[in-house]
Amino acid sequence: MTERLPATPDAIAHAADLLRRGELVAFGTETVYGLGADATNADAVARVFEAKGRPHFNPLIAHYPTAAAAFADVEPSDFARKLAAAFWPGALTMVLPRRADCPVALITGAGLDTLAVRVPSHPAARALLAATGRAVAAPSANRSGRVSPTTAAHVLDGLDGRIAVIIDSGPCPVGVESTVIDLSGSDPVLLRPGGITLEALEAVIGPVQRGAPIVDAHKPLLAPGMLASHYAPNLPVRLNATSVRPDEGLLAFGAALPGAGALFQLSARGDLVEAAAALFDGLRSFDAVAGLSGIAVVPIPQQGLGLAINDRLTRAAAPRGA
Ligand code: TXA
Ligand code: MG
Repeated sequence: MTERLPATPDAIAHAADLLRRGELVAFGTETVYGLGADATNADAVARVFEAKGRPHFNPLIAHYPTAAAAFADVEPSDFARKLAAAFWPGALTMVLPRRADCPVALITGAGLDTLAVRVPSHPAARALLAATGRAVAAPSANRSGRVSPTTAAHVLDGLDGRIAVIIDSGPCPVGVESTVIDLSGSDPVLLRPGGITLEALEAVIGPVQRGAPIVDAHKPLLAPGMLASHYAPNLPVRLNATSVRPDEGLLAFGAALPGAGALFQLSARGDLVEAAAALFDGLRSFDAVAGLSGIAVVPIPQQGLGLAINDRLTRAAAPRGA
């Protein structure tokens, strides 16, 4: 059962406490309801993907109570500072490079070197973020493939029993998701139209390219090059390995195969949530090991979060473009 609480100071303090303990909390923002987890806790974020029933890892937005808190985790460009001054708090999400010491778990950004950050304007959401004191990862609080929820009842339709608490702050005033703009490259690119119009953005920073989203939550892998900007490990990846060579790093799940040059255990007890939480750290871990010529991955069960793990691994193993 999910506890449904009106957005009182007591309920917000309780929800912040649950978030800090790794529980999932749905909460209203001015755009749509979010399914929140401590963004620095990889296991909690893995459970967000599980609760949404997403067949792949889409990068999530990290939410902050202030622009200063957001810009402590990512590197703001001049455009980002201007947009923050104009539209934060509000329905704008900016994709920016992670700082080297960014405490947000890699799974939150699906392993990317960038992170999407947003400072919502809804008072209940801001109070929750301030009380939590950590970045909160929050996709829209719907099951995968369903429309974004704008009332607590919508959230419970899809997620009742899958989350600890929902903070009911009434209907969302904007009712569409935030605008997502990528400011990590040399030119600003609109990734998702939303609550702040393109014209409003262009009035502040000049021309913005209309980009195809880097990652589309609702489409399967079409072409390997589609995720060109996605982080890929330096070494080639070999899937469904039943044996491993001494010049390979092994991504293990359950009992490890003998003979690998290096080992990263996704989950010794064969737990898919634990494996999802560790996946992006695991893929990166072998970059730092000298003398390896590839990464071998054992078969991962194609069920639950295994679908998302296998989707990501398939992308990592796809032939690289020039
Ligand atoms: O209004 C909103 O943005 C709501 C509320 C809860 O804040 N959240 C939301 O999250 O709509 P979600 O996960 O449903 O959509 C996030 C979008 C996705 O299209 C995702 O691909 C994109 O943001 N995104 C997130 N991080 C990204 C990144 N590093 N690079 C490119 N796109 C990113
Ligand atoms: Mg969504």
